[in-house]
Amino acid sequence: MKARIAVLISGAGTNMAALLYAAKLPSCPYEIVLVASNNPDAEGLKIAATEGIPTFAVSHIGLDRAAHDAVMHDAIVEAGAVYVALAGYMRILSTEFVAKWDGRMLNIHPSLLPKYKGLHTHQRAIQAKDTVAGTSVHLVTAELDDGPVLGQIEVAILPGDTTDTLADRVKMAEYQLYPKTLADFVARNTNPEYLTAQVRTLALAQPEADEVLSHGMPCFGINGGKKFAYVSVDHHKDSKTALLVKISGVEEQAMLIDSDAERYYRPAYFGDGWVGIRLDLGDNDWDHIGEWIAKSWRAVAPKKLTRLMDLAEEF
Ligand code: GRF
Repeated sequence: MKARIAVLISGAGTNMAALLYAAKLPSCPYEIVLVASNNPDAEGLKIAATEGIPTFAVSHIGLDRAAHDAVMHDAIVEAGAVYVALAGYMRILSTEFVAKWDGRMLNIHPSLLPKYKGLHTHQRAIQAKDTVAGTSVHLVTAELDDGPVLGQIEVAILPGDTTDTLADRVKMAEYQLYPKTLADFVARNTNPEYLTAQVRTLALAQPEADEVLSHGMPCFGINGGKKFAYVSVDHHKDSKTALLVKISGVEEQAMLIDSDAERYYRPAYFGDGWVGIRLDLGDNDWDHIGEWIAKSWRAVAPKKLTRLMDLAEEF
């Protein structure tokens, strides 16, 4: 299953086009399910529509920031997108919108971040007599152009470069960088090794936790004793990567499966006391998964370990 991406643009949309054409390669791990804009006249919307990609546009004029972001958010969710790629989207986003897409929204910026956040990046690089400019793809956080950098390409500045000639070459670099970085990013979120490593970090952070291999599965227990988490990778060729944790019993299991049958399942051979939580749907909330693991640890931990925690909670 390919990762579903919504691309947000305000203008020419040439980076969007680069993402779109890369997505036509059979091996590309993402697909574009929506191109949305705050500018109904954005040229990029025509490119997307001609390529058969659903488009959506609502002007921000006359709407306050939160209201406009909410309209965009609804359209993105409606399209079934799991990630958002900003590509020349000239809007400052509300903190609510950023929070909703935390860890799943990328942006491309025409400088070597953390240098030259904001506008006029090429002009500033030339004025500063820099010898290299470039482009960065980063995760979007509440601060403008500030989130963790996922990839960069340097572009040498030629003697005599103007803002325009430099911008043209940086764009060529952008067309390489964005599709590749986005592809690597979404692939990571379905990669069993990456997902297992994430669980490992969370599980081994529990008191007295250790790891063994059980029936080929990475398995986390307390001091070689009771187990509180397993990572199931393609178990019996089910092609799932999932976390198995303890729950209270069949009722909780049924309730979870009922609430989200794609994510939760009854793990074969484990019985009613466990639930499988898919990790390969591309939208993991690692804080939430950490809570599952801690809860599961607590369900099997010996009294002498939990007593201290109970005491701590009383105060
Ligand atoms: C790109 O240079 C990008 O780095 C910046 O806005 C520009 C968008 O251009 N965020 P286009 O609309 O993709 O042609």
